[in-house]
Amino acid sequence: KTRVAVMISGRGSNMSALIEAAKDNDFPAEIVLVVSNKPAAAGLDIARSHGIEAVAVDQKLFSSREAHEEKVAEAIEASGARIVCLAGYMRLLTPRFVARFAGRMINIHPSLLPLFPGLDTHRRALEAGMRLHGCTVHFVTEEMDGGPIIAQAAIPVRPGDTIANLENRLLAAEHRLYPHALRLVASGRARMEGARAIVDMEEADGAGLL
Ligand code: GAR
Repeated sequence: KTRVAVMISGRGSNMSALIEAAKDNDFPAEIVLVVSNKPAAAGLDIARSHGIEAVAVDQKLFSSREAHEEKVAEAIEASGARIVCLAGYMRLLTPRFVARFAGRMINIHPSLLPLFPGLDTHRRALEAGMRLHGCTVHFVTEEMDGGPIIAQAAIPVRPGDTIANLENRLLAAEHRLYPHALRLVASGRARMEGARAIVDMEEADGAGLL
């Protein structure tokens, strides 16, 4: 099984979905480490309750972004992880860190990229009058939320939807999409080649419409 590290900043519900999926004997990856840049992240204790090593690398204790990332990278490398999953990791990464894990680091983002990179995606989707909203798993590149797309899932926007219930319904889609995408990457059926993600034909349907 491919060893995987998950980087979080908070609640860790996507991390939990990956941990649950990885319990399946057929899943090609195992979660061996969870790292948070925030010591108060609730996801740390959840990971520990599953017997997974979980460490906080408190960004406040480092004088620079580079020094903080170096510590994070060391923890990941010490764990033997070959794939890094960003799961609600809310700090920008330097090009150096991105290059270190090029083609091996993936992120989940709560919009149908390339629409709505950045924050506040649910509010922006509602304000734009979108009839579909969704989530994307992509390889991480230097461009924030701009890397090659591995898989996407869409949900309808319903009349009367609020930011909160749109977010909740999308989160359920995220929890299905992220394990699907990690499975593809860990089994070699999705890979980054230059600026593109190559996804094997029979898998290209993604998690589809949910
Ligand atoms: C998720 O909705 C994830 O897609 C989003 O933050 C939430 C984290 O929730 N990520 C981003 O916005 C990345 N820029 P979680 O901690 O419960 O997985």
